[in-house]
Amino acid sequence: MKVLVTGGAGYIGSHTALSLLEAGHDVVVLDNLCNASKEALRRVEEIAGRTLSFIEGDIRDRACLDQLFKEHDIHAVIHFASLKAVGESVAQPLAYYDTNVAGTVTLCKAMQQAGVFRLVFSSSATVYGPDAPVPYQESMPRGRTSNPYGTSKSMVEQTLEDLVQSDGRWSVVLLRYFNPIGAHPTGRLGEDPQGIPNNLLPYIAQVAVGRRSTLTVFGNDYATADGTCVRDYLHVMDLAEGHVSALDRLTVLGAQAYNLGTGQGLSVLQMVEAFERISERPIPYQFAPRREGDLAAFWADPSKAEKELGWKARRSLDEMVADTWRWQRRNPHGYRTEINTTSQGAS
Ligand code: NAD
Ligand code: WQD
Repeated sequence: MKVLVTGGAGYIGSHTALSLLEAGHDVVVLDNLCNASKEALRRVEEIAGRTLSFIEGDIRDRACLDQLFKEHDIHAVIHFASLKAVGESVAQPLAYYDTNVAGTVTLCKAMQQAGVFRLVFSSSATVYGPDAPVPYQESMPRGRTSNPYGTSKSMVEQTLEDLVQSDGRWSVVLLRYFNPIGAHPTGRLGEDPQGIPNNLLPYIAQVAVGRRSTLTVFGNDYATADGTCVRDYLHVMDLAEGHVSALDRLTVLGAQAYNLGTGQGLSVLQMVEAFERISERPIPYQFAPRREGDLAAFWADPSKAEKELGWKARRSLDEMVADTWRWQRRNPHGYRTEINTTSQGAS
């Protein structure tokens, strides 16, 4: 089937575009490249040995969307396009609501006009809020969100639930990601954050490769085994495969949420130890006060996705770290540079 992947040049989108091509689907990517590089898509095509269609455009541009649906017989849409930096969302809430909420509304209107009613939406564990018991289950209500980014995800979930209530033709799958990390095992696709990484793993990887000197660990006084925060890290390739599985669920009308996580929690210091062990590089760190908005510990109950999507995260922590490290060594400055590490005998 032909799948539109909005935000498909981004971190998760590019890995998903590759999995879709490898599963035999045809892929159309729409991306405004505000946080991505076309090089990622070039490499996706190289690895897959197949081409995809790329349209540089904005999900808020209705005319662009109408033209795209006119030119391509789209079977389903996987919607990644979004702004996603928590701190930035506090400083620029209008930009986040404009892209994440209004952009999704424009996309859905264009889909409706084109007679396309199958949508997979990139949601986030952040919608559960701070009061949900762990492990998070899809039956739990959405909770208080503590920043415009998280609120925008919650608002879009509500919007889509209201849409399917109003129009029985829609089938919507809400995928609630926990903490995606890792990179394609070739080391040619990976996470390429602009500026100082907000997230833990890209920051650790940049310390390991020498771009950053020291990791700051935000808080070591949490009620966890080693005092540092615990999260459910899953391999981005597992996540990508979860989207391919979710397409098969789009035969069921209505809206369904699924947790995409491993069901296991790992602490910041456990991630540091794993990275040092796998990369054989020191990761110097210093403790600092807690980061505003961080929760002590959460992880997924992934049993619904396993039962109904036939999906389970299967890659190990060592694979997540090894693949991250291979990507970072080969691309010390992300997609702007690539060093052929095979000549250095590196695995
Ligand atoms: P990313 O920034 O790498 O990918 C988002 C892509 O969307 C980028 O390629 C960007 O250029 C594009 N984009 C942004 N605004 C656009 C617009 N108006 N029109 C067209 N394209 C636009 O981020 P990611 O980590 O790959 O996240 C993908 C999705 O998954 C996002 O919706 C994000 O909120 C969600 N998510 C990410 C995480 C995570 O930890 N990475 C966790 C939970 C949910
Ligand atoms: C993980 C842990 C930090 C960086 C965020 C968003 C969430 C989703 C995934 C989009 C935390 C600690 C981090 C650093 C550190 N994104 N840390 N030093 O906060 O669980 O989730 O990304 O949907 O919405 O909130 O992930 O990687 O930022 O942090 O100590 O330099 O690592 O305090 O405990 P998080 P993260």
